[in-house]
Amino acid sequence: MNRQQWGSRAGFILAAVGSAVGLGNIWRFPYVAYENGGGAFFIPYLFALLTAGIPILIMEFTIGHKYRGSAPLSFFRMSGKKAEWLGWWAVFVSFVISTYYAVIIAWAMRYTIFSFGQAWGEDTEGFLFTEFLQLDVAPGETGGIVWGVFIPLVLVWVITLGILVAGVKKGIEYANRIFIPTLVILFLIIVIRAVTLEGAGLGLTAFFEPNFENIMDPAVWVAAYGHIFFSLSIAFAIMITYSSYLPKKSDITNNAFITGFANSGFELLAGIGVFAALGYMATQLDVPVSEVATAGVGLAFVVFPQIINQLPGLNGIFGALFFLSLTLAGLTSLMSITETYVAGLSEKLGISRNKAVLFGGGLAALISILFATQGGLFFLDAADYYINQFGVAAIGLIEVIMIAWILRKTGVLQNHANLTSDIHLGGWWKVCLGVVTPIVLGYMMFGLITQNVLQQFDNDTGNYEGYTDEFALTMFLASAGAAFVIGIIVSLIKWSRSTP
Ligand code: PHE
Ligand code: NA
Repeated sequence: MNRQQWGSRAGFILAAVGSAVGLGNIWRFPYVAYENGGGAFFIPYLFALLTAGIPILIMEFTIGHKYRGSAPLSFFRMSGKKAEWLGWWAVFVSFVISTYYAVIIAWAMRYTIFSFGQAWGEDTEGFLFTEFLQLDVAPGETGGIVWGVFIPLVLVWVITLGILVAGVKKGIEYANRIFIPTLVILFLIIVIRAVTLEGAGLGLTAFFEPNFENIMDPAVWVAAYGHIFFSLSIAFAIMITYSSYLPKKSDITNNAFITGFANSGFELLAGIGVFAALGYMATQLDVPVSEVATAGVGLAFVVFPQIINQLPGLNGIFGALFFLSLTLAGLTSLMSITETYVAGLSEKLGISRNKAVLFGGGLAALISILFATQGGLFFLDAADYYINQFGVAAIGLIEVIMIAWILRKTGVLQNHANLTSDIHLGGWWKVCLGVVTPIVLGYMMFGLITQNVLQQFDNDTGNYEGYTDEFALTMFLASAGAAFVIGIIVSLIKWSRSTP
């Protein structure tokens, strides 16, 4: 069986950018930057991008291109059983993330329709939580299916799995060729509209105003690294899988730079659009920007609907464009994350791609229904917080240590990348991977463990969202330990004989 391939260089780049550009660019980056020093955040951000983001992207592209397999198969071919488990660990984390990422896309889809006529009314928060999500049950309890979420959720999975069934070139590449340019155009329209609103300047000032004191704070550097990992979809098995479909004679390093800068460019654009809109909102309400600035679910599904309510002119269309942008950005990321376990499953068991989509994607789709039940949001939020915290820091850290120090493969990978790439890798690349990134991530990991495990039974420190100690510790260990243990167990199973 011939391995599937991208049809063109642009197709691969669009798919990689499609994976990178996601909800994180729109609802996460603007607030992270604002909270961590505004204009001054660009120093740690650029540092993290250049010392960790792009070097690791190059590393993952090279691994996929050289070993031509899903993340676990690539690690297996590189090292035998020594690193295969790491690939499965990342695949399993990706699997879990896909189950709730899909749900948020479903909300965005539903809100695209709600935009016309502003179905959410005046109390956008009450509408989201009580009417739309029916969250009026106690935390940790689940109730019945919420049909308003369930129906678009089915649609999200049908689209995503349908695209994966169509294949790498005819499915993923084709979809990204349409979705990404459309997304960029829609988003440009939104940003232009936003910056021409009254008070936009106020928002932009709040966003760009540099707070240099902040960058002395290690937490700001940790935030920059954490965001870069999430935003570039690295350490999630994704970029290894995507680059395993590159034809033999493909550029690697230049493609990684293009992907990294395109993602950052989009993020910056989103920061401008979001804060211009927040400036407008603050002006309308006559409050400081800090009072309306927020991120995540609150920004997209509570504050934006309020902004849309107040806009003069064709506000329904502006709203629809915003939520359609979220939907498109999310779908292209969901495809990529789902492809990690579709590829892994099909290679491990020697089953066809379609069967792997059916079983792997089907299982993720079924599990995601849990988040479409009354009270499901509680699990979604908790899962996201703990999985991401652990996903980004731990897998990234172990991946670089494994490659640079245990398997000592940076030299081999460097030669491989240089063979077909425009930009040649030098010593700087090895220093970034082997020294700078492990130090920063190691520091980050240490902080996370102290906070989530060691301080658990210290009554003075509050847990995330006020969770009980037991719940917080369980979630942390489940997100950290379960994926890790499953990774090791799956790596003990033999590869199918049909996998060369
Ligand atoms: N890179 C995506 C974003 O910025 C998030 C993502 C991470 C998607 C990991 C899939 C996997 O939103
Ligand atoms: Na991103």
